[in-house]
Amino acid sequence: MSEPRRIPLIIVGVGNVGRAFLAQLTQTHDALAHRYGVALYPVALADSRGALCDADGLSPATLHAAADLKAAGRSLTEATGAQLGLTALDLVEWASRAGLERAVVVDTTAADGMEPALHRALALGYSVALANKRPLAGPWEGAQGFFESSRVRFEATVGAGLPVINTLRYLVDTGDEIIRIEGALSGTLGYLCSRLEDGEPFSLAVGMAKSKGYTEPDPRDDLSGMDVARKALILSRLAGWPMGLEQIRVEPLYPTEMVSLSVAEFMAQLPRLDSDFAAYMGALAGVPRYLAEIGPRGGVVALRMVGERLAAQLRGTQNQVSFSTRRYDEHPLTLMGPGAGMEITAAAVLQDCVQLARACD
Ligand SMILES: NC(=O)c1ccc[n+]([C@@H]2O[C@H](COP(=O)([O-])OP(=O)(O)OC[C@H]3O[C@@H](n4cnc5c(N)ncnc54)[C@H](OP(=O)(O)O)[C@@H]3O)[C@@H](O)[C@H]2O)c1
Repeated sequence: MSEPRRIPLIIVGVGNVGRAFLAQLTQTHDALAHRYGVALYPVALADSRGALCDADGLSPATLHAAADLKAAGRSLTEATGAQLGLTALDLVEWASRAGLERAVVVDTTAADGMEPALHRALALGYSVALANKRPLAGPWEGAQGFFESSRVRFEATVGAGLPVINTLRYLVDTGDEIIRIEGALSGTLGYLCSRLEDGEPFSLAVGMAKSKGYTEPDPRDDLSGMDVARKALILSRLAGWPMGLEQIRVEPLYPTEMVSLSVAEFMAQLPRLDSDFAAYMGALAGVPRYLAEIGPRGGVVALRMVGERLAAQLRGTQNQVSFSTRRYDEHPLTLMGPGAGMEITAAAVLQDCVQLARACD
């Protein structure tokens, strides 16, 4: 058998998803080399403060030690040989200077400001695999290139491991016309809604989701609905509706006067909202679900009471997406299943990398 084609990876973000991705890379390395003749090998690994780089490939021991360090909540700056303060753009330029070709930039952060690095990577002929939604949800002028390039993939950004993006691509590429997209796109808010459905007060349900690590450290990052709005925007843009975030109406799960509180104050004041949620749910039939509803001219993400809709069947962190199209008109094409978790999210990123590597000349 000929030598596998080596594809360098620049991995930005070593959190839950980044670490699971590293583990899956090791686990699948030999099988992918055998099956497709490609060998994915990390040349750079970065967190928010430091980076490890080796143009010949970071050794398994180095990667293992780095993952252990991050799992212990420490910084890559503590790793042997780490360089401080390198940005994603610095890493892309470094890879170019080192003569690396066909590299894939893997963004498993949730950071703003990655666009320059990603655009530069594409200009160099590199590819991009994103778990990070933000570069796709910025102003259309900047994001358009990511949606139009065959060297950008982002399956993990919506529905975690569910093949939501691939399914929508398939519909669009085969000439179907998307009419409406609807779904429950947040594992965190799905969990919260399940507990509300079971009769738990809102404040206790949020407290439980936070203590289980389902919410961001500041639960308002989830309760604001902005994460769902970004997912809705990604779907709408991929569907052929190049709208901006301002065309998606977002209904947060807390009032604006709670925006400026500290996290501790916010958690302490949550019981104030319990009676409002109880009254809302008591007044309407069905079960609560935080839904995205998107059409060609805009969308809304909001709490709804649903009865007959498929979303009523969801439990816990499950996601659901339904595509109503010209071909799927009477019965929408629907995906449903686990919508959060580092293993399934990392697998979606890995699959993107495999597809990008196979497409390299
Ligand atoms: N977890 C899931 O179930 C899931 C599902 C679907 C999609 N996603 C998406 O996947 C991404 C990663 O999620 P996660 O749970 O792994 O997050 P996480 O545990 O918070 O990890 C984020 C990582 O990104 C690093 N980082 C932040 N800003 C950076 C920067 N400017 N440059 C380099 N590295 C930077 C952080 O560094 P430090 O360690 O130094 O802070 C950390 O290592 C997010 O966009 C999330 O929305 C996650």
